Amino acid sequence: MASYPLKIPVLWLPPLLLLFLTCVPATGIKVPRLGVVGRTTRVRNLGTTKTSSTWDFKKFYYTQTLDHFNYRPESYRTFQQKYVVSFKYWGGANASAPIFAYLGYEAPLYDQSPATGLILDNAPRFHALVIHIEHRFYGESIPFESRDEALRNSSTLGYFNSAQALADYAEIILDLKKNLSAETSPVIAVGGSYGGMLAAWFRLKYPHVTVGALASSAPILYFDDITPENGYYSIVSKGFRESSESCYKTIKQSWSEIDELASQSNGLSLLSQKFQTCSALNKSSELKGYLEYVYTDAAQYNAPPEYPVDRICSAIDGASEGTDILSRIFAGVVASRVNSSCYDTNEYNYPTETFVGWDWQTCSEMVFPIDHGRDPTSMFPASTFVLRDYIEDCNRSYGVPPRPHWITTEFGGHDIKLVLKRFASNIIFSNGLRDPYSIGGVLQNISDSVVALATVNGSHCLDILSESPNDPKWLSMQRQSEIEIIEGWIEKYYADLAAHH
Ligand SMILES: *[C@@H]1O[C@H](CO)[C@@H](O)[C@H](O)[C@H]1NC(C)=O
Ligand SMILES: *[C@@H]1O[C@H](CO)[C@@H](O)[C@H](O)[C@H]1NC(C)=O
Ligand SMILES: *[C@@H]1O[C@H](CO)[C@@H](O)[C@H](O)[C@H]1NC(C)=O
Ligand SMILES: *[C@@H]1O[C@H](CO)[C@@H](O)[C@H](O)[C@H]1NC(C)=O
Ligand SMILES: *[C@@H]1O[C@H](CO)[C@@H](O)[C@H](O)[C@H]1NC(C)=O
Ligand SMILES: *[C@@H]1O[C@H](CO)[C@@H](O)[C@H](O)[C@H]1NC(C)=O
Ligand SMILES: *[C@@H]1O[C@H](CO)[C@@H](O)[C@H](O)[C@H]1NC(C)=O
Ligand SMILES: *[C@@H]1O[C@H](CO)[C@@H](O)[C@H](O)[C@H]1NC(C)=O
Repeated sequence: MASYPLKIPVLWLPPLLLLFLTCVPATGIKVPRLGVVGRTTRVRNLGTTKTSSTWDFKKFYYTQTLDHFNYRPESYRTFQQKYVVSFKYWGGANASAPIFAYLGYEAPLYDQSPATGLILDNAPRFHALVIHIEHRFYGESIPFESRDEALRNSSTLGYFNSAQALADYAEIILDLKKNLSAETSPVIAVGGSYGGMLAAWFRLKYPHVTVGALASSAPILYFDDITPENGYYSIVSKGFRESSESCYKTIKQSWSEIDELASQSNGLSLLSQKFQTCSALNKSSELKGYLEYVYTDAAQYNAPPEYPVDRICSAIDGASEGTDILSRIFAGVVASRVNSSCYDTNEYNYPTETFVGWDWQTCSEMVFPIDHGRDPTSMFPASTFVLRDYIEDCNRSYGVPPRPHWITTEFGGHDIKLVLKRFASNIIFSNGLRDPYSIGGVLQNISDSVVALATVNGSHCLDILSESPNDPKWLSMQRQSEIEIIEGWIEKYYADLAAHH
């Protein structure tokens, strides 16, 4: 175990201060966040802001079933699930024009930024209807009277899981198609990060509802023992090392420097000053956990044109000769942040909706065994994922133990090529290999239509963001391949439909 909180990049997270304070695992084991966009990225074309206001998204609420998988009276409770639809470019039901379904992930659906750039950019070309559905327990799609109640304990949180979410999506899409008399319109499921995992699984579980899926940066293989536990952090280290050997070495050396300074009398106060922390450090783990987040966030969202890893390393390396290690590290932190007067080491720990929701999800079924490992080439101190401790922490927080093998039981993952080769079709697994989560993604082609599209210099979910004139060529090509493949699925579907009638 790391002596400080081991963070695993979260996909995303929602708030409930009360709940959060009592529900965070005591030893603070965390999974690096997932999520389509980085939270600290300064220069990032999110794409959607530019176009979504012109999309004329209409908001709807579907009366959703609380529990799709039981027939007990309480399963029939309902809640209002939010989704938004843009009809703007839709070719209509008579033309069997396609439907792009952007599957919600671990965050509220904000009215201003539904869906993501890639599908918005391409809806006109496909004459597609665009729908974005909010994931249950996030945003407005809260079963039970209030978020407080919904998140209070496992009696209500128990309904918060991926299988229920997929069933929600199936119901809403089928209802919408019926409503629009669009039963013959092909549906393409799209998602990124955790949403990408959902998109891939949706195609596998609901082939009658979607003809194909684009799963961007979906680490569906980061379960059980399929992916090495230190895989995530090994990619982070590799990214920093490739950016600069001396930067990587400085970071590698800094942890013991921090511990050494912290152990001296007055050391924590010196560290607080040195790192201009917004509140005084109580223990060195607060600083180390923060730095770890700064590095992983930069690596995961290491996007052009700025490449935050390069920016951090330039600052670390660029300090004048003779600058001590910790001052160099601080220069890296400054470079990674928007100009601030102090640095909030709790920045990543606020109980946002994503944080709170994802904490439950990772403590129930989404058990990603991630650690630093003991690899001497890692720039992080050694740590080991101990499943027993993880289970105990979660059990203590929520009163129910996680089920670490449920995801592979429900969706598979082991020997994925062997298993899916003759079963699955029409899934694109896209990844950027600089994204640490890519190591848990599908990186090999499984069949003619279950394909892996990876870019060497890409990062988390880059491909599903909006096009920008500054995009490197490899990114435009990745998107173009995706669009052509989807076009192929739709053409084949139309041919089949014509033959069927
Ligand atoms: C769609 O087809 C139906 C039946 O053929 C027709 O009544 C209707 O006007 C068509 N709708 C549009 C928008 O073309
Ligand atoms: C959850 O909280 C409700 C309301 O306080 C209570 O009735 C229920 O027994 C609790 N469930 C568990 C598993 O603690
Ligand atoms: C479905 O149909 C009802 C009325 O038939 C309408 O009020 C509602 O807006 C429709 N929903 C969508 C998403 O089109
Ligand atoms: C130190 O502890 C205090 C009291 O719990 C807290 O308010 C403060 O945020 C902590 N400092 C850091 C850097 O987390
Ligand atoms: C923030 O930027 C302004 C001008 O760009 C500069 O004057 C100021 O010193 C900066 N503050 C910090 C804390 O770096
Ligand atoms: C979870 O906690 C309960 C209550 O403390 C305990 O009885 C149970 O054995 C724990 N389960 C696991 C798997 O640790
Ligand atoms: C998978 O196949 C596609 C063509 O369908 C190709 O563009 C891509 O490079 C292949 N991916 C790998 C990892 O070989
Ligand atoms: C990736 O980036 C590196 C340096 O940043 C560059 O040398 C290399 O050519 C790039 N590779 C591709 C395939 O674009």
